[in-house]
Amino acid sequence: MMIMRGTIIALSSALASAAQIRTRVIKAEQGGNIGGATFDYVIVGGGTGGLTIAARLAEVASVAVVEAGGYYEIEYGNASVVPLYSLTKIDVIDPSENFPHRPEIDWELTTVPQVNANNRTIHYAQGKTLGGSSALNTMSYVRSSAAAYERWANIVDDDSYKFDKLLPHFKKSVRLTPPNLQKRNALNATPEYDSSVYGNGGPLDVSWNNWVDPSITWLAKAMQAVGMNINPKGWSAGNLNGGSWVPSTIDPARATRESAETSFLQYALANTSLKVYSHSIVAKILFDGDSARGVKVATNGTTYELSARKEVIVSAGTFHSPQLLMVSGIGPKATLDQLGIPVIADLPGVGQNLRDPISIGTSHLVNTISSQTITSNPITEPEALRQYEEEAAGPYSSAAGWIAYERLTSKLRSTLPQSTQEKLAALSPDSPELSFIAGAFALPNGTSQGAMSAIICNTFSKGSVSIRSANISDQPIIDLGWLSNPADTDVLIAGIKRLRQIWASETARNITLGAEVRPGEGVCTDAELLEYVKANAQQIWHPSSTCSMGKNDDKNAVVDSEARVFGVKKLRVVDFSIVPLSIPGHPQATVYMLAEKIADAIKRG
Ligand SMILES: Cc1cc2nc3c(=O)[nH]c(=O)nc-3n(C[C@H](O)[C@H](O)[C@H](O)COP(=O)(O)OP(=O)(O)OC[C@H]3O[C@@H](n4cnc5c(N)ncnc54)[C@H](O)[C@@H]3O)c2cc1C
Ligand SMILES: *[C@@H]1O[C@H](CO)[C@@H](O)[C@H](O)[C@H]1NC(C)=O
Ligand SMILES: *[C@@H]1O[C@H](CO)[C@@H](O)[C@H](O)[C@H]1NC(C)=O
Ligand SMILES: *[C@@H]1O[C@H](CO)[C@@H](O)[C@H](O)[C@H]1NC(C)=O
Ligand SMILES: *[C@@H]1O[C@H](CO)[C@@H](O)[C@H](O)[C@H]1NC(C)=O
Ligand SMILES: *[C@@H]1O[C@H](CO)[C@@H](O)[C@H](O)[C@H]1NC(C)=O
Ligand SMILES: *[C@@H]1O[C@H](CO)[C@@H](O)[C@H](O)[C@H]1NC(C)=O
Ligand SMILES: *[C@@H]1O[C@H](CO)[C@@H](O)[C@H](O)[C@H]1NC(C)=O
Repeated sequence: MMIMRGTIIALSSALASAAQIRTRVIKAEQGGNIGGATFDYVIVGGGTGGLTIAARLAEVASVAVVEAGGYYEIEYGNASVVPLYSLTKIDVIDPSENFPHRPEIDWELTTVPQVNANNRTIHYAQGKTLGGSSALNTMSYVRSSAAAYERWANIVDDDSYKFDKLLPHFKKSVRLTPPNLQKRNALNATPEYDSSVYGNGGPLDVSWNNWVDPSITWLAKAMQAVGMNINPKGWSAGNLNGGSWVPSTIDPARATRESAETSFLQYALANTSLKVYSHSIVAKILFDGDSARGVKVATNGTTYELSARKEVIVSAGTFHSPQLLMVSGIGPKATLDQLGIPVIADLPGVGQNLRDPISIGTSHLVNTISSQTITSNPITEPEALRQYEEEAAGPYSSAAGWIAYERLTSKLRSTLPQSTQEKLAALSPDSPELSFIAGAFALPNGTSQGAMSAIICNTFSKGSVSIRSANISDQPIIDLGWLSNPADTDVLIAGIKRLRQIWASETARNITLGAEVRPGEGVCTDAELLEYVKANAQQIWHPSSTCSMGKNDDKNAVVDSEARVFGVKKLRVVDFSIVPLSIPGHPQATVYMLAEKIADAIKRG
């Protein structure tokens, strides 16, 4: 028997500010213990990829989504809705071992000690909620480069992964709103972009924030001063080079987070018969022989089955998709045998090839104000709150700012060991090697601290995901493999040197107060920088490639170029885990595109 519940509520009780009130459809089907139900497609995971493909398939078929969490707006409040709070109040992103436990929103994953990074155990936040990690992320919307998609096309031997062929799928999800220059109120922060590449008919709001952090306008100028020139087409036209003001998945009319839930799920609940099983965990994929026939679900301790007439689609994210495949009998045979899991398909690549691009930061106190110094000061905060509530503007309305991409300068490149230079030379000449993000935060005494970090664009290190038991509720074993390839360490050390060149520019010196805070002036030699990197390198939450796409004859590939799992029938994986390489840019744009592309392939048959 199925208990049906459907309600329409205004989220005013969960969200304090008037600006955030928006009528949302909150609808969830709860499974009883008898029978279950049958759909054309059952989607595992109501995250970024899952809700997107679910919404598109529900236009033409019966679809159920099973999601472990609920509605983040209700369960995590305005921390997950107000853009600035993605930097200041989403406490679960703390990577330390003493992270705050928020089981209502986060999977609370921790890694094995990272042997090349001082044996640090990392807490790796991942959204456990409708919207998945799009409900926790910093909302930057940055596609990868045409060169990276070309490498992807070559790896899978499928030209449909070239950027010009992907463009219609990128555009389909997006509803672009041009920047509101009046609200941004910063003469130096007019975004350059190519409106023809974005799209305007999709459910996903993409725009530029209605406010620019004053400190970041200076740091952006400092990056330009050392040669990171403004990219005239911005970050969605296939060229990641130079600097640009970052577009974000924010609803510009209300300045609220746009996630896969607020966009694709809301669209589907209004327009299709999509069914959502929230607070429900898929424990296993069920097979008839080698053909997926449904899933075993647990809701509040009650287990039942949902059957799929056509396909099961796994969109559980980079850590949980390989885990679910393995506990269901798809993965490296030795691992499955050891745990007594019957092998449905021996795929040695499941959980292998994990790529996690990491970053390293530098900081100085600065004499400029920033979003956080305004909102943490009791004298200026009320006006910021008024601006947010009445105008959907001001410091609360904004998260990301400025990002630059660059290939190493020839001078820095020449300082790298020969073996690292050779690895970098194998990348195409238009692949950026580092990206640089400018940020600013408030110290307890009200001073601004400027922070700039360097992030690897093509990580050479590989990690892995495995399982400790056949029980989906036991955490997967995650080894991020940080710095296991010395080329990554070399590139990050070069990154710190480049950041110091930016801080040394006249523009930056004009706003800095005192000596470098981090790493600090005592950290100079390559050996000292190496120790700093090992102790401080950090994730930017872009892990990928644990169910890599590949050619039929690639033994380590998990899915083909239409996301079908090798060795079985009626099963696909559609999320960031299938991207077969470390790509520059930020993941979510690619995940939304990929789900659109695979939905389109399924519909065309
Ligand atoms: C702190 C943070 C900041 C980030 N910043 C950015 C950014 O600014 N820009 C950007 O582009 N990207 C950013 N990212 C990355 C981006 O958000 C993710 O790469 C992307 O959302 C991943 O999409 P996905 O579909 O692969 O997985 P997810 O969106 O994580 O979806 C997986 C879903 O599956 C569910 N699930 C898992 N297992 C089960 C199960 N067994 N049963 C039922 N449900 C299950 C999960 O609860 C989740 O909802 C950030 C991520 C984080 C965490
Ligand atoms: C977020 O919610 C808290 C608690 O209700 C409230 O004090 C705060 O003003 C809200 N923030 C915004 C920006 O609305
Ligand atoms: C990390 O742990 C391993 C195994 O316990 C140990 O051999 C090694 O010395 C440790 N490294 C550091 C930097 O502590
Ligand atoms: C439902 O679909 C129509 C037509 O595409 C669209 O205009 C509307 O915005 C959709 N509803 C929601 C809530 O997205
Ligand atoms: C699970 O059980 C709790 C306690 O009985 C109840 O409050 C909650 O609504 C149930 N959740 C679901 C998804 O049915
Ligand atoms: C604010 O705090 C920082 C860090 O402790 C300190 O370096 C700085 O001098 C302080 N500034 C003022 C104005 O007190
Ligand atoms: C699976 O693991 C969870 C959490 O560790 C535990 O509560 C549950 O009893 C386990 N289930 C089985 C079938 O062992
Ligand atoms: C730095 O400040 C000085 C003195 O105010 C000013 O003349 C100069 O133009 C500034 N330089 C830059 C690059 O902003």
